[in-house]
Amino acid sequence: MRRDKSIELLNKAIGDELQAVHQYMFFHFHLDDLGYTPLAELFKRTAIEEMGHIEKLAERVLFLKGEVEMLASSAVAKITEPEQMLNKAMSMEEQSAADYNASALECSKVADSASKQAFEELVRDEERHYDAFEKQLENIKRFGASYLALQSFPGTSSS
Ligand SMILES: [Fe+2]
Ligand SMILES: [Fe+2]
Repeated sequence: MRRDKSIELLNKAIGDELQAVHQYMFFHFHLDDLGYTPLAELFKRTAIEEMGHIEKLAERVLFLKGEVEMLASSAVAKITEPEQMLNKAMSMEEQSAADYNASALECSKVADSASKQAFEELVRDEERHYDAFEKQLENIKRFGASYLALQSFPGTSSS
């Protein structure tokens, strides 16, 4: 097993996950401010899941005797319009799923099946996140922007 290759891929993934946490919490703050509570909560819940991903990846890095690089892969995009937020989030999830599929293959090439498995588990989560965001975007398209405001009355739910 070539540990350095796996450690590099795991740290790159940590950077992408940190980026997702920052971006989704930025969306959460703005949606909450707009009173779009269910969508705000969806972004917050997803950010918390991405934090769980960071934890799994970091544990694997340390197990392989590497160091955890906590560097977000890029700056937060200052998007404040809900449809654009969802498009951005979907493209991030799509990219993560594609990257993790590729990383799983790389890990298998260096005979690191535990890291491969970790990446595969992440792919399943990112595909589920993509799906949840897509559902929200479809509803906005179907019912118009008022969908976000109307679903925010107490007693209604999202996701
Ligand atoms: Fe993730
Ligand atoms: Fe995700």
